[in-house]
Order: sequence, then structure tokens, then C-alpha cells
Amino acid sequence: MDKLLETLLETRRLTEEQWRELLARRDSLDRAELFDLARAERQRWFGNRVYIRGLIEWTNVCKNNCYYCGLRRDNHRVRRYRLTKEQILACCEAGYRWGFRTFVLQGGEDPGLSPEAVAETVAAITARYPDCAVTLSLGEWEETVYRLWYEAGARRYLLRHETADEGHYRRLHPPELSLRHRMDCLYTLKNLGYQVGAGFMVGSPGQTDETLAKDFCLLQELQPEMVGIGPFLPQHDTPFGREKPGTLEDTLVFLALIRLTLPPVLLPATTALATLDPRGRSLGMEAGANVVMPNLSPPSVRESYALYDGKAATGAEAAEHLADLRAQLAGLEIAIDRGDAPTKQP
Ligand code: 5AD
Ligand code: SF4
Repeated sequence: MDKLLETLLETRRLTEEQWRELLARRDSLDRAELFDLARAERQRWFGNRVYIRGLIEWTNVCKNNCYYCGLRRDNHRVRRYRLTKEQILACCEAGYRWGFRTFVLQGGEDPGLSPEAVAETVAAITARYPDCAVTLSLGEWEETVYRLWYEAGARRYLLRHETADEGHYRRLHPPELSLRHRMDCLYTLKNLGYQVGAGFMVGSPGQTDETLAKDFCLLQELQPEMVGIGPFLPQHDTPFGREKPGTLEDTLVFLALIRLTLPPVLLPATTALATLDPRGRSLGMEAGANVVMPNLSPPSVRESYALYDGKAATGAEAAEHLADLRAQLAGLEIAIDRGDAPTKQP
């Protein structure tokens, strides 16, 4: 076995230097062996169980201008929408019937979404479905706002760090956004008691073995309960519209390495991965992922939530087609419970 992989298995951490070295020779790693190790780790913590999360795309309005994202404020070709509390509750009702016990409310940084309205919606969901978890993914807000939402019942927050390298962060974002503030938000969320999810795009413009090594070090430091990674995919109305997409191979290798670094992590095979390759979701599970997040948004808005071109939106991506998803998860079973991050090995 690769020496550094052995060290990773023994200590669950590598130095930045070691990460760089391992990542630099990732194409010559024995992938079958790597994925076996990742699946064994997943099996130890979760058995055969896969968690499903119902993804509700609340608003595609965003005040930010990230260079990679189709929802950026300068993209005037998007039909903007914002769901009402009633629409969201209707999504939850359908989702609950289908077996979802986690609802992920995701959206751009929408100034028209008041913190109070979010709190009210979260409180309404947790009152109606006390056996369900509410995850928020609404970007960067003040600590007081994050606290308000926690008190309303939200217990998980997804905020990808995007890249742990300052220079690379500036390449991906306009100057008003900073890695520093993003990390402050992640630590604030953690301190408030949220289970947090960090993560990054695979193959984003400017990503190198050096920036990736920092991403892995950041994950070791932060110890997030969830990690979301998926390939960067160009969106034609953004400044990165002509950049190359991330690769399937890299995404799978990174999923496996994350599973080995953070064994009990909740790790989705993302929609971006399924968009890049029709086998993406199954291959992601084979590389150690254990979460899938089918789309529970009203079908009429799904197309408008276009972070990148070609977003997979049918079949197993759609919450109403859980049977399609089951068929792709050969040997794994979909768990019908909240699926909190485990704290000790079962
Ligand atoms: N390709 C892949 N992922 C993207 N995201 C945004 N734009 C793209 C894109 N073009 C991801 C970012 C963000 C999340 C909402 O979606 O990582 O955190
Ligand atoms: Fe807005 Fe998020 Fe897209 Fe950036 S990545 S433009 S914050 S929706």
C-alpha cells in the first residue's frame, strides 16, 4: 500500500507537505484499493445505510457575484424566484410521505429573505415534523442570525469553504468576499452547536495540488460533520463559462480520501457529480459517499436554480422518483431516520 495512505489510515492526518505529495501522485494510486478502504470505513460507521436529504431550493436570488455560479447577481438571464413558507411546507409534506426525515433549505444570499421569515419557516417545519432535522444552507450571515435560526430549531448548516487558499479564493470570488469571513462563519456555526458542512468544488479554475493540500488540512482542523464536494461545472453566463469542468476521477479519489480522513463524515454523492457522469452517483457511493440529496423543490422552479449547465434534474435526482434512486444503490439501503452525524462507532 502507498506509504502515505498507510499513515493516513493510522493517524487520520497528514501534514500539508504530505498531502501535497499524495495528491501529486493521485493518478498512480491503486483506485480499487483506495475505494475498498473507503467503503470499509463507511461500513464500520454506517453499515449498509445511505441517508437521503430532501433538498428544497428556497430562493435563487443572490447578492453575491461568485465568478463560477450561475446565480450570481450579474447574471440577468436567470428568472429569479423565492418560495413562500406555504410552498416549503408543501414540499416537506410530500417529502415526509416519501420517507425524507431531513429537509435541506438551500438558497443564495437573498436580501429579500428576512432572518425572521427563515426562523418562522424553520420553526413551522420542526413543530410539524418533530422527528425531522432541518439543515440550512443560506450562506454568510451574522452570528445573531445564525443563533436565531438555531433557536428556531435548525441543527445543521452547510457552508462550503470553496478553497482554503487565500489566493485561490480571490481567483474565485470578487474582492468583497473573503476566506477569512467564510471561516469565521464556519467556526461561529460550530460554536453555536450546529453540525457543520464544509467542502469545495473539484477542478475549479486555479485549483492546484497546493490549494487542495490546504483543503484537506482545513478539513482535518475543522472536523466538520459533513463535507460536500462535487466537480466544478461551467455555467455559460458566468465569467468561468469557458473553463474546463472538474473530472470524475479526481472527485471519486477525493471522496475516498475524505472518508479516510474523517471516517464518520456525512458525505454526499452530489448532483454535480451525477451531472458530470450518468454513473456519477453510484460511483460516488462506491468511493465512500453515504448521502444523496434528491431535489424536493417544486418542479416548476428546479430549472431556475441553475448553478451550472446541464444540472441533472430527472430520475434519481428527483425526490418523487425514489425508486430510481434505490435501483442505483445496489447493496445499500435507504435509511428512514434523521441520520445525525454519529458520535461514537456503533
Ligand atoms: N459548478 C459546480 N458547483 C458549483 N457551485 C456553485 N457554482 C458551481 C458550479 N459552476 C457550488 C458551490 C456552492 C454550492 C452552492 O454550489 O460550491 O457552495
Ligand atoms: Fe450566490 Fe452561492 Fe452562487 Fe456565490 S455560490 S453567487 S453566494 S448562490
